[in-house]
Amino acid sequence: MGRRRKYELDGHVMTIVNEPEERPKISGDPPHVHFSIQHPILDAVSACKQLLKAMDAGRVRSVCELFGGSGWQTLQIQRTLKPRAHVVLDSSPDCIASIKASLPQVTAKVRDSFALARAGFGGLEFDYIAADFNQYTYHRDLTDPKYKGVMDGIFKAAKTYVTLADSSWYGVLRFRRNRESYAESIGMDPDVPVDYFRALNKQFKKRAGFGIVRVARWGTSSEVLLQRGYKGEYEVQKATEPVQFRILE
Ligand SMILES: C[S@@+](CC[C@H](N)C(=O)[O-])C[C@H]1O[C@@H](n2cnc3c(N)ncnc32)[C@H](O)[C@@H]1O
Repeated sequence: MGRRRKYELDGHVMTIVNEPEERPKISGDPPHVHFSIQHPILDAVSACKQLLKAMDAGRVRSVCELFGGSGWQTLQIQRTLKPRAHVVLDSSPDCIASIKASLPQVTAKVRDSFALARAGFGGLEFDYIAADFNQYTYHRDLTDPKYKGVMDGIFKAAKTYVTLADSSWYGVLRFRRNRESYAESIGMDPDVPVDYFRALNKQFKKRAGFGIVRVARWGTSSEVLLQRGYKGEYEVQKATEPVQFRILE
């Protein structure tokens, strides 16, 4: 049995419920409460803030967050978009208990978001779907049976915006072999890693009618903002929004 901890994020007191005594190995798809307080992922928070600022808040009345984790993204969405309805899901009861303790105004539920997306959200639609996957890469999207139908379900149920945590960028930048396999699967130029997003943009437009509006990237990952019907230019930027983080107890 773990213990409760508190931290302050951008002036809001957040609670981690039932944090285990020992930090588990980070592999597979672990619940985020387990390490976010010891290992705050401030670059990801910064990227999320950057993309939320680029959205038209007036068009976002309903939000579904598929991977709520410890709730730092939930806080940013509440602050920036102020949606009327905000559903947050996670497969971990500890994550959901933490979100309920930190942000009681949202609807937080234990759910398997992969299964839900694959099943088309039971026909429900949302103005914005936030998909902060642990381990999404475009290659995995195309080849891993666990991801089959998940992004298609998300694109179908999202009326205006989708944000996607995409780690392909890191592999594309770092490993020649990945660049070659992406060159083959989505037609990017293996000598120009930033070309990855151009190829991804083309793919998502063709596959789902969603275009990239902005990408915020950092050392190991990136967050991509997609909008239905968007055909304009987009920017790939470093995550630079300031984030305040302080452990309280
Ligand atoms: C990258 S973290 C999300 C971090 C989150 N944005 C935050 O604000 O803390 C991914 C989360 O997905 C959850 N998860 C993994 N598989 C899931 C599934 N099939 N359905 C729902 N949640 C899942 C994990 O428990 C983890 O908390």
